[in-house]
Amino acid sequence: MQFVYNLLPASRRKTPPADEHSLGFGLLRTNHMFLMEYSDGEWHSPRIEPYGPVSLMPGAMCFHYGQTLFEGIKAFRHPDGEIYLFRADKNAERLNASAEILCMPRVPTALQLEALNRLIDVERAWCPSAPQSSLYIRPFMFATQDGLGVRPSRQYYYCIMLSPSGAYYSGGFSQAIRLLVTKKFHRAAVGGTGASKCGGNYVASLRAAEYAHTFKAHQVLYLNEANTHIEEVGSMNHYHVRKDGVFVIPEFTDTILRSITSISVLELAAAGRIAACQEPVALDAFLDDVRSGEITEAGGFGTAAVVSPVGQYVFEDGMEITVADGKPGPHSGALYELYSSYQTGRAPAPEGWLVKVPRF
Ligand SMILES: Cc1ncc(COP(=O)(O)O)c(C=O)c1O
Repeated sequence: MQFVYNLLPASRRKTPPADEHSLGFGLLRTNHMFLMEYSDGEWHSPRIEPYGPVSLMPGAMCFHYGQTLFEGIKAFRHPDGEIYLFRADKNAERLNASAEILCMPRVPTALQLEALNRLIDVERAWCPSAPQSSLYIRPFMFATQDGLGVRPSRQYYYCIMLSPSGAYYSGGFSQAIRLLVTKKFHRAAVGGTGASKCGGNYVASLRAAEYAHTFKAHQVLYLNEANTHIEEVGSMNHYHVRKDGVFVIPEFTDTILRSITSISVLELAAAGRIAACQEPVALDAFLDDVRSGEITEAGGFGTAAVVSPVGQYVFEDGMEITVADGKPGPHSGALYELYSSYQTGRAPAPEGWLVKVPRF
């Protein structure tokens, strides 16, 4: 497919911030975005354009019936000065898994990756290199057909925008979060869209997060519908570490997003670099094991923060359970270090995890 470059003249381009230590997360935009359209059963018109408004009809189906999905990927500037995409092939595959759940068209993974690479190549100057920084990449797709009947749209846009970012939490890894354990809100239902990265799952989480804040908690610990098993942490997978040092991740179900961070942790375990497994995690047994010290660490896995340790689980009746001493534990810290050293090129990553962005 022929990619069209409609770039801003150098005189109208913004320059990246000189101070890379206060980028924030997801706040900044680069000069350009990628855009492509789907109609008559095929993707067409791939182009890189100035970042700006997209014009849609008020009847565009994304506004009414929620056919929207997205991905979150990071690219890193390595000591050799080049930019490397981290596991973007996995995100491209997951985007297609989400598309299937939402009755949206697949985007060939090779096309997604070419679009990512071409856009990042244009915006090279925006990939930061400061510690804990990355170029955060947001591919997304939405329904554009003007129609009010409830059925899958026949037209879509696929876009990519970029955001040079610092650490997800301003305190970085040193901050342990508080989670509200609630049986009142659920993120996803069996047979629903929980395993996809669709906008609807995130709007459903907003009210729960606001509720968590009233308990001075950062996020909610999501349970399954029967309130018996642990599912996710806000927008991360949950993990805990047993006394023997094994990381345990709840088994994937159709109400849990298949986190690429979790999958990577499990791959590291399969390669003998760490100890990790997946199994259903019953809430009551988990809480008993935290109280008894059988579980020594817990937290969340996700692209944004990588490893986000949990210090306390709080309950609606005021009860609180602290994990060990409430501070980020050594296994979580070591995993964060290992994972980020792969991402940033400070240690050789497993084969295929990093792909250098070519110069087109
Ligand atoms: C609901 C949810 N669970 C888990 C994750 C972590 O997934 P990943 O490690 O692929 O970022 C995310 C973030 O993408 C998420 O939104």
